Formats: sequence, structure tokens, C-alpha cells
Amino acid sequence: MERTLSIIKPDGVSRGLIGEVVRRFEKNNIRIAAIKMINMTKIQAQGFYAVHKERPFFASLTDFMSSGPAVVMVLEGENVISKNRELMGATNYKEAAPGTIRADFATDIEKNVVHGSDSPQSAAFEIGYFFNSFEIID
Ligand code: CMP
Repeated sequence: MERTLSIIKPDGVSRGLIGEVVRRFEKNNIRIAAIKMINMTKIQAQGFYAVHKERPFFASLTDFMSSGPAVVMVLEGENVISKNRELMGATNYKEAAPGTIRADFATDIEKNVVHGSDSPQSAAFEIGYFFNSFEIID
């Protein structure tokens, strides 16, 4: 069993896509082990995306991620890190495979509806960033 962090970004929440995204996870045998809605501060968003701090899109990305409510989830399942990335599709929605969340709903390379951890190391950091162990249900 593996765990990963998923975020339904502010664009996904404001467009009423929470149910649709969660449905896709559940339909694909992914268990929601923790879920909550948060409104990230700019500082929290900067800490979360610290690996991207030298990128030209860092300021805009952290403004966007702190612009409104987001849903953070711990997903659990076999190979859930790669499974979630398959369901999300490529970061750039123009390159995302048909039927993926980003191909179906993203409007922009930044406003791409969802985030998912890209490795076991980032999953451990990202889950710990938003959840303590009491909030994750076995
Ligand atoms: P995410 O999977 O959350 O990881 C980093 C985020 O930065 C990415 O999704 C996009 O929202 C954003 N991003 C990545 N590349 C670019 C880019 N070239 N221009 C703007 N935003 C980007």
C-alpha cells in the first residue's frame, strides 16, 4: 500500500469539481484516507512549492494556490502515486491524455485543477505538510 497527497486546486473547487475528482479516485479503487478543505496562506503555498522557488512561475503559482479554498487529500492504494498521476494527466493540459482530469477540465498550465505527489519522497513531505497522523484514517 502506498500513499500520496492530492490537492483539488482553487480553480477546481470554485468550478464545482470536488465531487467529479473524488468520484474518479473512488471509481479507480483509490481510498480517501484523509480529506479537508483549507485556504492556504501565501506563506504556506510558498513552503509547499519550495522546490519550484527559482522558477519564473513561482510567484504566480503561489498567488493562485492561496487565492481561495482548496481540498487536500491523502489517497491510499497500490501504486497510488503513479495511478493518481495517470488519472490527472500531464501538467500541461494540452499534452494530457484524453479522459484525464486535466484534459477534461484544466484551462491553463497553472490552473490545472489538481496536484499529485510525484515520488514517495515528495508524498512523505507533502502529506506531512498538511496532515498529522491522527487525521489519516487506517
Ligand atoms: P503541480 O503539479 O501542482 O506542480 C507545480 C505547478 O506549477 C503545476 O502543477 C502548475 O500548476 C504550475 N506550473 C508548472 N509549470 C508551469 C508553467 N510553465 N507555467 C505556469 N505554471 C506552471
